[in-house]
Amino acid sequence: MALAIVILALFLLLCFCAALFQWNEVRYRKNGLPPGTMGWPVFGETSEFLKQGPNFMNSKRARYGSFFKSHILGSPTVISMDPEVNRYILMNESKGLVAGYPQSMLDILGTCNIAAVHGDAHKLMRGALLAIVGPTMIKDRLLLQVDEFMRSHLRNWDSQIIDIQEKTKQMAFWTSLKQTTSIVSGPLWESFTIEFFKLVLGTFSLPIDLPGTNYRIGVQARNNIVKLLKKLISERVNSKIQKDDMLGYLLSEENKYKLNEEQIIDQIITVFYSGYETVSTTSMMAVKFLHDHPKVLQQLREEHIALREKKNPEDPIDWDDFKAMDFTRAVIFETSRLATVVNGVLRKTTKDLEVNGFLIPKGWRIYVYTREINYDPFLYSEPFTFNPWRWLDKNLESHNYFFLFGGGTRLCPGKELGIAEVSTFLHYFVTKYRWEEVGGCKLLKFPRVKAPNGFHIRVSSY
Ligand code: HEM
Repeated sequence: MALAIVILALFLLLCFCAALFQWNEVRYRKNGLPPGTMGWPVFGETSEFLKQGPNFMNSKRARYGSFFKSHILGSPTVISMDPEVNRYILMNESKGLVAGYPQSMLDILGTCNIAAVHGDAHKLMRGALLAIVGPTMIKDRLLLQVDEFMRSHLRNWDSQIIDIQEKTKQMAFWTSLKQTTSIVSGPLWESFTIEFFKLVLGTFSLPIDLPGTNYRIGVQARNNIVKLLKKLISERVNSKIQKDDMLGYLLSEENKYKLNEEQIIDQIITVFYSGYETVSTTSMMAVKFLHDHPKVLQQLREEHIALREKKNPEDPIDWDDFKAMDFTRAVIFETSRLATVVNGVLRKTTKDLEVNGFLIPKGWRIYVYTREINYDPFLYSEPFTFNPWRWLDKNLESHNYFFLFGGGTRLCPGKELGIAEVSTFLHYFVTKYRWEEVGGCKLLKFPRVKAPNGFHIRVSSY
């Protein structure tokens, strides 16, 4: 009897689940939508997507083609794996294909943040950002600051076992803290550091505003960073001293993009955040690939030793040196490609739209998934081989499907700054040190590249 009740209960549960599943499919059944499945109500197919990563995408593609629908990360989403369609989406923001980042990220990075705005507001924030991180600034001001920072950050690594993942994360944040505010030590530096790492955690969380959630902690960290920046701005305005850093430039008369205090604060948080994960992961993975490919390391080292031989030991890396680092640039692109530092970017529709012959309803997300392009044998011969030499052909950097730094109106404005930071890091790292891995390194590649147990190396002077 008891067994019969259990079987009946299981049967009813199964029927209920199937009905729920079916209801969710029917809810999204509308003429013209791309093929695909929507999974469970609310959760959709998020857990399969996160667990299986690229395999989830490839198995869907095998079934439905390169343009399919799903429900991931809390929203109905169309996933595009077609290079041509991806290009179209990136190039056509004005047709109603705006940036579509998750709510937690927007709440924590601020309403004036570049990823939260479009149209004229985006043009203003982007122009103001390019004025502080673009090539002229890199040449005249930022390279010197990056150089000073890297020399000091890489000091005293000799005969140490270090976690290079931790060091490159600190490097990416601290170098931007120096460039934006000139803060390099002391209580303010400590406060910014503690709050920033909490803020980052919050941006990757579900927007659940309860005590102890990463979201709540991230929002509080943002509020604390806003307070610190407001205090800094009022001290600068009251003292009338103009500092030679990004905040100084944003507050100055010479800056033609007039931003209010809220916009300036969100702009500074953008600089902290946008280059953080990309620069740190590229640097860490470059260390990994260089370790595994001694010939590449040898050529890279030769490039940097040759540069150093023309200079005094205390001379900083300047613009001409940076522009002469052809092989370094190639190593950075190849690292970014093979490690797939960025899997794709998110967009959202502002109205019902037809894309690639299908309907995408207003408010749906589009995941412009660019990962597979990195392994396309027609673009990159032997795509799974680490071969920086392929990038010495400069045309490769300008092909139609080069999306390592995004594309269209949201092409990364920090591209050259990011490359300059990683190049300067590599300059001091490979000219000063040799290294070996300690205890192996487990790497996760999706949804973000990371070493869950750290990436430990033993460093010795070269
Ligand atoms: C190796 C380093 C970097 C990589 C691989 C990278 C990659 C990218 C990608 C793929 C996008 C496109 C996002 C989208 O379309 O939604 C992007 C946008 C952006 N990046 Fe970078 N980035 C790097 C470094 C930096 C740095 C150092 C900064 C610092 C200022 C920065 C600031 C930004 C900003 C503000 C955007 C948004 C632009 C907009 O919405 O108009 N990035 N980046």
